[in-house]
Formats: sequence, structure tokens, C-alpha cells
Amino acid sequence: MDTKVGIDKMSVYLPHFYLEMEELATARGVEVEKYTIGIGQNKMAVPTIEEDIVALGANAAKQILTEEDKGAIDQVIFATESSFDYSKASSTYIHELLEIQPFAKSFEVKEACYGATAALQLACDYVRLRPNRKVLVISADEARYGLETGGEPTQGAGAIAMLISADPQIFALDMDSISITDNQFDFWRPNYSEYSMVDGKFSTELYKNIFTRIMTKMEATQPEKLKQLRAMTFHLPFTKMGKKALGSYEELADSVFNEEEKTALLNTWKSYFEESARLNKEVGNVYTASLFLSLVSLLIFAEDLKSGDQIGLFSYGSGAVAELLVGTIQDGFLNALNKDVIVQHFNNREAIDIERYEAIFNEAVPTDDSKTTIKGPIETAGFYLAEVDAHRRYYKYRD
Ligand code: CAA
Repeated sequence: MDTKVGIDKMSVYLPHFYLEMEELATARGVEVEKYTIGIGQNKMAVPTIEEDIVALGANAAKQILTEEDKGAIDQVIFATESSFDYSKASSTYIHELLEIQPFAKSFEVKEACYGATAALQLACDYVRLRPNRKVLVISADEARYGLETGGEPTQGAGAIAMLISADPQIFALDMDSISITDNQFDFWRPNYSEYSMVDGKFSTELYKNIFTRIMTKMEATQPEKLKQLRAMTFHLPFTKMGKKALGSYEELADSVFNEEEKTALLNTWKSYFEESARLNKEVGNVYTASLFLSLVSLLIFAEDLKSGDQIGLFSYGSGAVAELLVGTIQDGFLNALNKDVIVQHFNNREAIDIERYEAIFNEAVPTDDSKTTIKGPIETAGFYLAEVDAHRRYYKYRD
């Protein structure tokens, strides 16, 4: 039998501050239910200048790596669409901060929110050929649309770190998957623009369209495997998007399943949706990390899921590339994913008001060649961006 490969360890790290959607709705003169029900978000993570993607990613990865892991990691792959450098990869900083063995390679991957799935697939393929080695995958993003824009309530930030190995404790990934590319302008960010360009309504339609095209292909090629999926997780730019995707599959005519079979399958997936969206509701869009945050959410909150259950992961990146992955929950998933630590990390965050959110949002890293000490408004433990000197970023660790 082939060696199982997949996610051996997994961690989440969030900015310290968040904004209640109620606070945002009041400030923008919108009914709060539009945000909490209409788009399905409760809170929005707000990163400070110290909490850039490298700091978020390093803090996520630090939680899961042992000295033995650091010696076995051959690649550090960073997936993001919030990169601050066209050339130097964010993973080069992570490699140093976490003292990964020197002969590892480090690089960034990009394709909007799909990037972390590409990284995960690269990592799994590498480990399948070298089962005694490991790969560290980090996905970290800051979703920024701008103040008082249509996309503002779907901002967020955070990081997920995943250690990929043979005989994983949490989740083994199948080699088979279904992917698709469709060149479109639903959401994109030209190099000269600080903020994303987005055609909001079209983006949600395209997401649903691509999900149904993938499901149609899956029905045609692997109907039995599809029927066995206990739950379906989604890239969640806002949690209502997952419900919209489920609805689009429900409405799809010409299924290979009869009505009873399809209803049973959809009802099972729907029964897990709230658990899979619980963490995302408290954070907002984390771009590359959103799908994997949803997987963590499902695994820690869905009490009746067990080892051997198969889960679908629908990864969507605007532009657009999508992939449906299938994986199997492993024996050690509950021990490896420490629910109490994750919940405590979420609960330890601090709410801020709209004025403070706007002030933090407008802070920027200096772009001249001066030496600037970065002084954020918080003193939380962990890695943080400490200094920018002649366009070079330097990080420190605070106990
Ligand atoms: N009570 C309950 N619901 C209410 C309400 C109220 N008082 N008022 C409005 N709503 C509902 C609306 O009926 C609507 O529901 P449906 O979508 O089910 O019809 C929902 O709230 C949103 O209302 P609008 O469509 O009027 O909202 P909007 O015009 O402000 O746009 C948005 C919403 C398109 C998501 C916008 O926030 C946006 O552009 N976000 C960024 C783009 C995005 O996230 N796209 C997702 C797909 S692309 C992707 O996945 C990649 C990625 O990460 C970006």
C-alpha cells in the first residue's frame, strides 16, 4: 500500500485586534443583519503594522515545530497574495526566524486564495517521493479592500501553518483531485495597486459556477467517491459564500444521482456547514488560509466526525483557479489539533472601536530608505516586525 501523506500538524495565528461587525455596520450606516446574516460574519481581524504576513506566519509555525521537525524540513513554502516584495520570498524570513535546517529551500507561491492549495499539493508530492522528509507550508494574508468600500466587511487577516509528512496525524490527502483554470477578472490586484480590484457580484457568481463545474466533473468521473464525502469545506471569503455554493449544487440539474441520493448527500454536508464556518465567522477573509481555517474549524467543532471519514476541500482562487481535494481524517487528529489552545487564542483577542480600526488601517511601513523602529499599539508575545532599515525588514521575538 502507498504511504499516506498529508497534514501532520496544523496551527492558527490571528492578529490581536478585531472589529465587531456591529461596530462596522453602525459606522457605515448599514443594518447589522446585512453583515451578520447577509454575508455571515461576526468579527473582522485587524492586523497592526507589527503583525505583517511574516510575523503572522512565523507565530503560527512556531507553535507546531519541534527540533526534530526543523531538521527534517526540506522546503518552506509560503502562500500569500499579500506579499510585500516582488522578489524576496516571505519564507526566507520564516526559515531564519524558526531556525529550519540550512539546506532547505524557501519560496512563495501565488494564485489568489488558491495559492495554499498549490503549496500543499507540491509539499505532498515531494513527501510522497521522500517519506522521511517534511515540508512546512505557511499561508498568511491580510485582506484589504479599503475603508468604506463594498469589500470592507469581507476583510480579515491571519495565518495557518501546516507540517506535511508521511503517516500524518491529522489529515491524509488523496493524490486524485479535480482542478480547473478559467481566465477571468473577478478579483485581482495589479502590482501598482495597494488594494484589490473586485467585481463583487461577478466574483460570487463565478465562484458558484466553478464549483458546479467541478462537481459535475466529479459526479461524472468519481460518483462513488463523491457519495462517500462526509462533509464539504469551502474557501470562505465570507461564510455565506459556502452556503451559496451548496445552493448552486443543489439547483444543478442533470445529476448522476437520483433525487433521494442527492438530497441525502447535501443534507449531510449542510449539517456540518456551521461547524466548518465557526472560526471563519470570527476572523473574516484570510484569503489563502480561509479554506484551511475552515478545515480546522470543522475538525475541532464537529463532535461526531471520526478517523476514516472523508472530507472534500473546495479551494477557490480568483482569476480563477479552483481545485477539489479529498482527504481522510486520521487517528491522531484531535490530539494534534489542540482545540482548547485554538479557542483560547481566539478568545484572548481584543475588540477595538471604529476610530482605532481606521487609524490602524492607515498605518504604513516607511517606503524611504530611513531606519525606522516599528512601534505598534500592542505588546503581545511572539514574533513582530521591529524595524525597517533601508527597505530591509527585521523581526524580533518578544516573550
Ligand atoms: N438582513 C439580512 N440580509 C441582508 C440585509 C439585512 N438587513 N441586507 C442585505 N442582506 C443580504 C442581501 O440580501 C445579500 O444576500 P444574498 O447575497 O444572499 O442575496 C447579502 O446581504 C449581501 O448584500 P449585497 O449583495 O447587497 O452586498 P454588497 O453589494 O455590499 O456586496 C459582496 C457583498 C459582493 C460580498 C462584497 O462585500 C464584496 O465585493 N466582497 C469582496 C468580494 C468577495 O469576497 N467575493 C467572493 C467570491 S471571490 C473569492 O472567493 C476570492 C476572494 O477571497 C476574494
